[in-house]
Amino acid sequence: MKNTDLCRKTILDLIPYVPGKPIEEVKRELGIDDIIKLASNENPLGPSPKALAAMKDALDNIALYPEGSCHDLRNELAKFLGVGTDNLIFGCGADEIIHFLGIAFLEDGDEIIQGYPSFMQYKAASTLMGCKTHLVPLNDKWEHDIDAMLEKVNDKTKLFFVTNPNNPTGTLLDSSVIEKVLKALPERCILVLDEAYFEFADDPGYTKSIEWVKEDKNVFVMRTFSKVYALAGIRVGYGIASKRIIDLIERVRGPFNVNSVAQVGAVASLRDPEQLRRSREQIARSKAYIYKALEEMGIEYTPTQANFIWINVKKNCREVFRDLMKLGVIVRTGDIFGHPTYLRVTFGTDEQNERFIKSLKEVLK
Ligand SMILES: Cc1ncc(COP(=O)(O)O)c(C=O)c1O
Repeated sequence: MKNTDLCRKTILDLIPYVPGKPIEEVKRELGIDDIIKLASNENPLGPSPKALAAMKDALDNIALYPEGSCHDLRNELAKFLGVGTDNLIFGCGADEIIHFLGIAFLEDGDEIIQGYPSFMQYKAASTLMGCKTHLVPLNDKWEHDIDAMLEKVNDKTKLFFVTNPNNPTGTLLDSSVIEKVLKALPERCILVLDEAYFEFADDPGYTKSIEWVKEDKNVFVMRTFSKVYALAGIRVGYGIASKRIIDLIERVRGPFNVNSVAQVGAVASLRDPEQLRRSREQIARSKAYIYKALEEMGIEYTPTQANFIWINVKKNCREVFRDLMKLGVIVRTGDIFGHPTYLRVTFGTDEQNERFIKSLKEVLK
């Protein structure tokens, strides 16, 4: 018997996720201490101080299981979004919710459609379930090519993913375009709108996704506390959909999947509007500074609606990545998204942004 006979066959097609390079790893490898990580779209300002205080207090109760229903968080978020408490599902990060979507909706031989480059965990969920993933290239503006994606729809299509804003390109689709998708999709297919970065977007045409949920459309909206709320390390994300869709996914959710500290941190984050305000302000400042600096350097970039930017350094991105790392700046290479001269760079604090630009100038000179 082969070792691989032990497992479900579909997992042999999965490649374990490779995250942005952790600071500690670079410290060990290069022996330098002063490192900034602009590789995983985290929030450099950190969480709300109120959330931090609440999470510290919550440590007193970690001998007990959390409330599996996320009762307080559910109520707080329902009020915050103006939806019913039964329109929500919580996960150990949005990543877990993507996994739930695969298990709950996909059967062997089904198909999903997603953009490329975009977030690849959708494909992972699909592969796990023995399904085919159509990776449809983005258009020349680095946006989802909705017409090309709709052409792939057939009687096996179950999930249609739109990452809005898209990761790694930061581009956004207008609500009118998404409405076209909703009209075109067959009844058995769910439109998944991954809005992990939605709080950063300032485009006035932005998504009316919550309204579509209220209209009982076949739509599943996914968001997270990892980005604007800076709780990536504690892992909490959520989905918003009509009750009939949530009821199906609840069947595959583990009993205590969101830990008690995360639940408390998320509630306190929602109650602190200052967190949103200061994070958005930081993004606006970062955009203004980085756009200008890149323009001065003659570097092509894609205007972004998220907290990161997709740039074309027109050189081997691995080499630029390595040289930046030697200067203590960690970014993400575009080759993992199929574009070997691109970098995805997360916006940092003012000081980190300046250091990134200074280092990039040095590396490209
Ligand atoms: C588009 C997108 N969706 C989902 C996630 C997962 O977020 P979480 O930290 O909530 O698992 C990410 C994380 O980078 C992302 O970029």
